[in-house]
Amino acid sequence: MQIYSAADALQEILFSESELRARVTELGEQIRRGYQGIDGRILVVGMLKGSFIFLADLVRAIDLHCEIDFMAASSYGHSTESSGQIRITRDLTNIEGQHVLLVEDIVDSGFTMDYILRLLKSREPASIKLVSLLDKPLRRRVPVNIDYCGFEIEDKFVVGYGLDFAGMYRNLPFIGVLKPECYQ
Ligand code: PRP
Repeated sequence: MQIYSAADALQEILFSESELRARVTELGEQIRRGYQGIDGRILVVGMLKGSFIFLADLVRAIDLHCEIDFMAASSYGHSTESSGQIRITRDLTNIEGQHVLLVEDIVDSGFTMDYILRLLKSREPASIKLVSLLDKPLRRRVPVNIDYCGFEIEDKFVVGYGLDFAGMYRNLPFIGVLKPECYQ
């Protein structure tokens, strides 16, 4: 597989570093307000790998006591279409009675979040909410309720700020749109 430089691989920048920073700050404040009145702390759970940069910025924008943990699930492999078969590759310990805030980079078909939310709800947390930086509603195959959404986007292949194509481009500090010839 040919690896293109970011300059060659991207057709446009969708969200710049400063746009991401501003929206993450707003989300942090919205989340703080949403949990007003809860007793104690929240458990922020990042879905690896895609959420790692978003989570790192988001938790610094949430003025609440936060514990942080991670789960990992995979369904895409190197493909651009979800298989619908979700495989948990890293799981959480006991979440019973905790206020869980699940952090995702993108909800696409919805298969991953549908599966993970059902699984975590069955473990009887005190509450569970979902924050996703991106939402691609045109690709949805199963409904998912996103409590806090950063940006709704069109059906374009996006990379950067944690999002990858075949493991690449996660470390770009902005979100860009990949040229179709790079993945078709
Ligand atoms: C991506 C993304 C979401 C999921 C969304 O994960 O991070 O978890 O796909 O797609 P869906 O709504 O169609 O299920 P991926 O499996 O590529 O793993 P990664 O987070 O390690 O990149």
